[in-house]
Amino acid sequence: MAPPRHFLQLKDFSREELDHVFERTRSIKARFKAYQRYWPLQDRTLVMIFEKASTRTRLSFEAGMQQLGGSAIYLNTRDSQLGRGEPVEDAAQVISRMSDIVMIRTFEQEIIERFASHSRVPVINGLTNEYHPCQILADIFTFIEKRGPIQGRTVAWIGDSNNVCNTWLQAAEIFGFQVHVSTPPGYEVEAERAGLYGTDHFEQFADPMDAARGADLVTTDVWTSMGFEAENDERLRDFADWQVDADMMRAARADAVFMHCLPAHRGEEVAAAVIDGAQSVVWDEAENRLHAQKALMEFLLLGRVDD
Ligand code: CP
Ligand code: NVA
Repeated sequence: MAPPRHFLQLKDFSREELDHVFERTRSIKARFKAYQRYWPLQDRTLVMIFEKASTRTRLSFEAGMQQLGGSAIYLNTRDSQLGRGEPVEDAAQVISRMSDIVMIRTFEQEIIERFASHSRVPVINGLTNEYHPCQILADIFTFIEKRGPIQGRTVAWIGDSNNVCNTWLQAAEIFGFQVHVSTPPGYEVEAERAGLYGTDHFEQFADPMDAARGADLVTTDVWTSMGFEAENDERLRDFADWQVDADMMRAARADAVFMHCLPAHRGEEVAAAVIDGAQSVVWDEAENRLHAQKALMEFLLLGRVDD
């Protein structure tokens, strides 16, 4: 049996494969909007394992699998044996014999890699401490929908160099755009942790206004990611000057869009005037999680499909 393909970080797929997934996202979204039934994954089962909280990821995977004709099962650490010390390798063997595809949200990337290496079926990263590749699939699809190709553009990342930031940096290498990152001192990007090949596609700025200048897309995320709650008070102090506000949006291009993976904290990493303002595309961005992940599951389970 050939080992299955997984989607554990964005660079697991080539540029060409990601472009195919975007093309399928467009088609699957159009059918969904036209209320056309599309059930290519009939009789297929997705297992979703959550070791951290979620609204969008759970909903988009569960609804998405149902809309493709399959079914989805939700497991969490609290009420499965995963929370009681069953080895991840054993869980992978068992879960992958009873399902067709698995999505996991967990802590260290190493956990999902160990699971995948013992899985008979494709495994999707639904967020780890290091990466959030499903989010960036949806984000880039959203940018292309709104503004056209992302190649050659500039993305400003303001705030924590977290899982979402790392995935933007991988995307920049794959698609050929620039990421201007501004973090408080002590929170800078670690190229190795981000899984980068080189540093050609990103630049770090001490001043967030400098990072935002001339950007086509300005984006941020919570100051304290899940799993880092113990640092919350310290982070509130350290990140106080890294809020995306109206001045920062004025430094970007006039047609720049604002994105946030959500959930957002208005008054912390983003001002209400920005996330609720005319340049914000956060609701389309959230919706596109659904369409992009349906295309991702179709690709992992059926390979290339054309209309
Ligand atoms: N953006 C995102 O992954 O949201 P959830 O944590 O609600 O899944
Ligand atoms: N960086 C955030 C993203 C939440 C979707 C976290 O990991 O908590």
